[in-house]
Amino acid sequence: MKPKKAKEELRVRSIRNGSVIDHIKAGNALNVLKILDITGTTQAIVSVAMNVPSKRQPLGRKDIVKIEDRELIPAEVDKIALIAPLATINIIRDYEVVQKNSVILPRVITNIVRCPNINCISNSSEPVFSKFAVLESHALRCAYCETIIDNDIASCLI
Ligand code: CTP
Ligand code: ZN
Repeated sequence: MKPKKAKEELRVRSIRNGSVIDHIKAGNALNVLKILDITGTTQAIVSVAMNVPSKRQPLGRKDIVKIEDRELIPAEVDKIALIAPLATINIIRDYEVVQKNSVILPRVITNIVRCPNINCISNSSEPVFSKFAVLESHALRCAYCETIIDNDIASCLI
């Protein structure tokens, strides 16, 4: 019989090349897939683990997303920061972690989230990009109409 450890490791196998988004706050794996435009028709090999026990506090449980043969670009990492500020992005090449980056929550985000206020100038036909201040609490405040988004940021992503 195989040792128990080997069986446990089968939950999500290692990847040869690609990106591992680790320490995603439990419940947000599907939002990360949405940000990365991964849908039912995507050809990439994607593994998703949800509600996995995490050694790190204060998460308790975490989600993990592994995408083979794709290295995330900075714009994608910025979006992930909004919904998973404690995530770690690992770049894997030939089975080795060659880069491990914590996501950085920007102070201001432009053209990433749509303002929920339909009367906001950023939703008009004016050529104005949406712009939000990222508050201490991680809530977003529209730079034009001051509307606050403090939950379900994922549903406001452009
Ligand atoms: N990983 C992977 N395939 C590889 C190497 C690593 O899927 N070839 C995954 C690991 O399963 C882990 C993440 O990438 O989820 C980071 O790997 P590693 O740095 O080795 O793990 P930890 O030390 O646990 O990371 P951290 O300190 O960020 O918690
Ligand atoms: Zn607004």
